[in-house]
Amino acid sequence: MKIDVITVFPEMFRGFFGESILKRAAAMGVASIRTVDLRDFATDRRRTVDDKPYSGGPGMLMKPDVWFQAIESCLGDRSVPARVVMMTPTGRPYTQRVAEEFSAAEHLIILCGHYEGIDERVKTLVTDEISIGDFVLTGGEIPAAAIVDSVVRLLPGVLGGGSEATAKESFGSDGLLEAPQYTRPPEYRGLKVPDVLIGGDHAKTESWRKRQAFDLTSRNRPDIIAMGGTYAV
Ligand SMILES: C[S@@+](CC[C@H](N)C(=O)[O-])C[C@H]1O[C@@H](n2cnc3c(N)ncnc32)[C@H](O)[C@@H]1O
Repeated sequence: MKIDVITVFPEMFRGFFGESILKRAAAMGVASIRTVDLRDFATDRRRTVDDKPYSGGPGMLMKPDVWFQAIESCLGDRSVPARVVMMTPTGRPYTQRVAEEFSAAEHLIILCGHYEGIDERVKTLVTDEISIGDFVLTGGEIPAAAIVDSVVRLLPGVLGGGSEATAKESFGSDGLLEAPQYTRPPEYRGLKVPDVLIGGDHAKTESWRKRQAFDLTSRNRPDIIAMGGTYAV
């Protein structure tokens, strides 16, 4: 999979893309991740990418011309189908289902807005407007990093444990949150690992996990239970 992230702050991604799972995915050749500096498409000496909004009000808006040029340069001859994903608080909510959808794409182009956002006309090149939550961040870099991470870990071979590793996580195939987990020692400061997990009875462990997952989901995410236990898009 090819991923291009268009941003005015490419340096923000350097450490993030060079560590952990993303580093492994790049080394394996499973994902080729690149940052593209939006300012490279500005035509003036100051490399301007923003201007005053017509509607007035505070703040600056990102100009359409630089965005059109940058996106078209990433699309190339358009021989490979691409998802062009705009980060915006006004987009549809990002979920594990959307991450799975994106992980099937050959080419993702992610647009990080800044200032008051991006000129509306840029949406004519966009296939997906995505929000990572009901709050406003300063820029699209953190949302883009979240998307790259959540998509790349779904690509075949990236995580040890294969597709089972991701199917059994929170929001996996049963839609519930993941049950509590423990590691050694069996007792720490008087806090004991539940006996059922130490007993080695696989069937009992499985039914304990299902019950715990249901209880945890009911407590923390009643909205998921109300939707029938399935994590919907
Ligand atoms: C300060 S925000 C612009 C907010 C915009 N004026 C509004 O009220 O909807 C600047 C940029 O940060 C990114 N951003 C902020 N919050 C986001 C969120 N919850 N999800 C995705 N992107 C977000 C977007 O790329 C956005 O263009």
